[in-house]
Amino acid sequence: MNTHQFDVIVVGAGGAGLMAALHASKKATTAVISKLYPTRSHTGTAQGGVGAALGNLEEDHPDWHTFDTVKGSDYLGDQDAIEFMCNEAVPAIYELEHMGLPFSRTPDGRIAQRPFGGHTNNLTGKPVHRSCYAADRTGHMILQTLYQQCIKNNVTFFDEYQVLDLILVNGVAAGVVAIKLATSEIHTFHANAVIIATGGHGRIWKITSNAYSLSGDGIAITLRRGIPAQDMEFFQFHPTGIYKLGILITEGVRGEGGILVNGKGERFMERYAPRVKDLASRDVVSRSMYLEIRAGNGINGQDYLYLDVRPETVNKFSTQDGRTRPDGSLYQVTAEELLGKLPDIVDFCRTYLGVDPMDQPIPVQPTAHYAMGGIPTNIRGEVIVNEKNHVLPGLYAAGEAACVSVHGANRLGTNSLLDLIVFGKHAGINASEYACASAFQHLPGDAADFAHEQIERLRNCQGGERIADITQELRSVMMDHVGVFRTRAGMSAALQKITELKERYQHVSIDDCGKVFNTNLLNAWEVGNLLDLAHVTTASALARAESRGAHSREDFPKRDDKRWLKHTLAWSENGKVKLRYKSVVITRFPPKERTY
Ligand code: FUM
Repeated sequence: MNTHQFDVIVVGAGGAGLMAALHASKKATTAVISKLYPTRSHTGTAQGGVGAALGNLEEDHPDWHTFDTVKGSDYLGDQDAIEFMCNEAVPAIYELEHMGLPFSRTPDGRIAQRPFGGHTNNLTGKPVHRSCYAADRTGHMILQTLYQQCIKNNVTFFDEYQVLDLILVNGVAAGVVAIKLATSEIHTFHANAVIIATGGHGRIWKITSNAYSLSGDGIAITLRRGIPAQDMEFFQFHPTGIYKLGILITEGVRGEGGILVNGKGERFMERYAPRVKDLASRDVVSRSMYLEIRAGNGINGQDYLYLDVRPETVNKFSTQDGRTRPDGSLYQVTAEELLGKLPDIVDFCRTYLGVDPMDQPIPVQPTAHYAMGGIPTNIRGEVIVNEKNHVLPGLYAAGEAACVSVHGANRLGTNSLLDLIVFGKHAGINASEYACASAFQHLPGDAADFAHEQIERLRNCQGGERIADITQELRSVMMDHVGVFRTRAGMSAALQKITELKERYQHVSIDDCGKVFNTNLLNAWEVGNLLDLAHVTTASALARAESRGAHSREDFPKRDDKRWLKHTLAWSENGKVKLRYKSVVITRFPPKERTY
């Protein structure tokens, strides 16, 4: 039997996993298990920056960042966690800088910062330069920097191993079970602490910025072990995905002065968010885009709009807005300056669309981007198992797979990289302290059985259903009915479809019977996770009879704090979703109506 033992096991090698591993490894023997080669993790696609009130270009304060995040969350974020994150942001950025992360620089050598949606000067209400960036490759730079630091710190990596199950012994986390992709061998990892950092699950939706690998494995595994998922109804649609492909076009484009335009040539965000316009929070911008398209104002009447970042457009609207640089001069850009700040975006548009953004506007549509919900944790990264905030000893989660909750009903751009750095670090520190103070649980002889069963069932089933059909039907129904706008009728239809697809999933056939890199089999397992997460998402959304943040119900268009200022906890039990609720932590900012 392939059994390994470490004090701390981290599942996932994105920014949260690597940050957790780096900090855990300072005290404890630490291994990272990843289904990908680590530097291919999805953090590498994060573009526009990481939020921190450094104040390098203009006045800014962690308190302003805290308030903007609370407001952006539509008051569903836990304010103690938000305040902790925004205060920790400043030292976290300098920690990355000292590790060698090559941030872009101001002319006088400080870390460069750009405006991003929902981040404001709290006195004027105008956008503030808060996003610290490395051109439009910030996530890529974070991933490379952290991976190098982990190697330096002797973290052990198990690359291309898919974790299938969590081992719990006497109600305590004791390890995980994984399959080695190269050989299909099952490996058992015995640990004192397990940190789940498996990222998001945007592949549930048809148009998404998420890579194929984002199938919500960590949340699905913990749901199967009786742990709830929190606030799953809140899923963010980023306003600017490349039309039909969903590939992300960073909000940094709008931060650098790009604007959204409809088929009539109007800068329509002026009507929806008169103060911050194109830099309103993402839920507001995505909804506005859908409303424009519905009103027949898409480009040529179709279901997309333009993002215009041509220098002449940027300069015209900056003049109109009176936008100035921090030195007080009028903000005017050249193509060369934009190319220096947005090199990958220009490259993506040329490659995927044959469009040069310096000469032509970019066709865009909202794209499923980020899960605000996930495995419930406290600010120590400990996993919470009920509405009384009881923790499951030895189990931690961080990053997009987790729900702390700092994003509430809608995340501000740049706060995901911040979340994974801050809470990845603290999960790592706390898990290593716990692991070093605990004795290993005795591993039961059947620890790997459930993982084996799942794989063998898929390998041997010959029911004739095709995984590709199930995936396609799931993604379409979620896009149509559990997307930016939702109704009871639509979500009920989606729920019915998901139930049908889950039944059909029991009868899938896979074509590859081999053991070497059987990606057909693994994809089938991942689709099981997507189905479970779609089920929990839709059931949670159907129950929440209000509109808040990214959850926009046409049949309940108003936020209802009296009945719904609470977090959803969802359990998956015998094929059914059971819901309970938990209070939101309000400290300094009582809920108010949001205006932008
Ligand atoms: O638009 C972006 O660059 C995405 C950033 C984020 O999701 O935080």
